[in-house]
Amino acid sequence: MRRACVIGWPVEHSRSPLIHGYWIRRYGVDGAYTKEAVPPDGVAGFLKSLQIRGLVGCNVTVPHKEAAYAAADVKDESARAVSAANTLWLENGRLHAANTDTYGFMTHLAQSAPGWNERNAPVSILGAGGAARAIVFGLLGAGVDEVRVFNRTRARAEALAEQFGRRVTVFDWDEREARSREAAVLVNATSIGMNGKGSLGIDFADFNDACVVADIVYVPLETELLRSARARGLSTVDGLGMLLHQAVPGFERWFGVRPEVTEELRAILAADITGGLV
Ligand SMILES: NC(=O)c1ccc[n+]([C@@H]2O[C@H](COP(=O)([O-])OP(=O)(O)OC[C@H]3O[C@@H](n4cnc5c(N)ncnc54)[C@H](OP(=O)(O)O)[C@@H]3O)[C@@H](O)[C@H]2O)c1
Repeated sequence: MRRACVIGWPVEHSRSPLIHGYWIRRYGVDGAYTKEAVPPDGVAGFLKSLQIRGLVGCNVTVPHKEAAYAAADVKDESARAVSAANTLWLENGRLHAANTDTYGFMTHLAQSAPGWNERNAPVSILGAGGAARAIVFGLLGAGVDEVRVFNRTRARAEALAEQFGRRVTVFDWDEREARSREAAVLVNATSIGMNGKGSLGIDFADFNDACVVADIVYVPLETELLRSARARGLSTVDGLGMLLHQAVPGFERWFGVRPEVTEELRAILAADITGGLV
């Protein structure tokens, strides 16, 4: 049997076992996927002992993504772009690391809003944390000419722009609405709206009709941002799809099957989120 897990501290909230457990059943894989609570001072030791523990790899959730990146022997392009990893696997005795948030976001965006890149317009991103970095990397890879970053702490946005070069421009947090009205896509990559807390304070009245609005927060499934964008008639892209798609590359590495993100899987996660709201 092949075994994988998710590590975090705490880890109880992780929905990764629901996703991988569904695929294990669906594809009849001889495998298991568990949650492992690993304290910060135990991460390096845990990752060194994957093989001894009978694990072929793991997912990594907060607060261990940077420590996992540091512990890996081989790091993929996306992990290097973010300096953090969420998916690890053993290959010929070496620990490989990837950051699949880029893949998850870009795949879900392309499926939910296929024409998102047809207008030659900037993309606005709210936030400059790890998730924002993964998304900026994906948008630049998809050929976006200008990514506008708005972050409460401007210095963090400037550090991001410095890393990615002149196609990333930085604006004050207070300009997030005025400077996004003509955007091809507006992405919330902050934690605002999580569990219904806080508001991004964006009024979509004067936005271009073709603007796509994406939120990577997935609790609740429809955030205030998505609700107001939808009420204005704009296309919306939710955070649950990103969560589901980011899990695909890890499952394939560990269990040898490229899994499909099905409506049934989405419904299982949606029911869990709606039932638990955490
Ligand atoms: N759907 C998915 O698959 C997926 C994947 C990854 C992450 N996420 C979600 O994305 C969110 C961000 O994750 P992350 O890992 O990037 O976190 P992070 O590195 O801690 O970054 C948090 C971001 O939110 C901003 N922020 C937090 N509270 C704010 C407030 N009150 N006002 C303005 N800005 C605020 C921070 O701004 P400052 O820099 O000013 O602090 C920063 O830009 C989380 O809610 C996470 O659950 C979803």
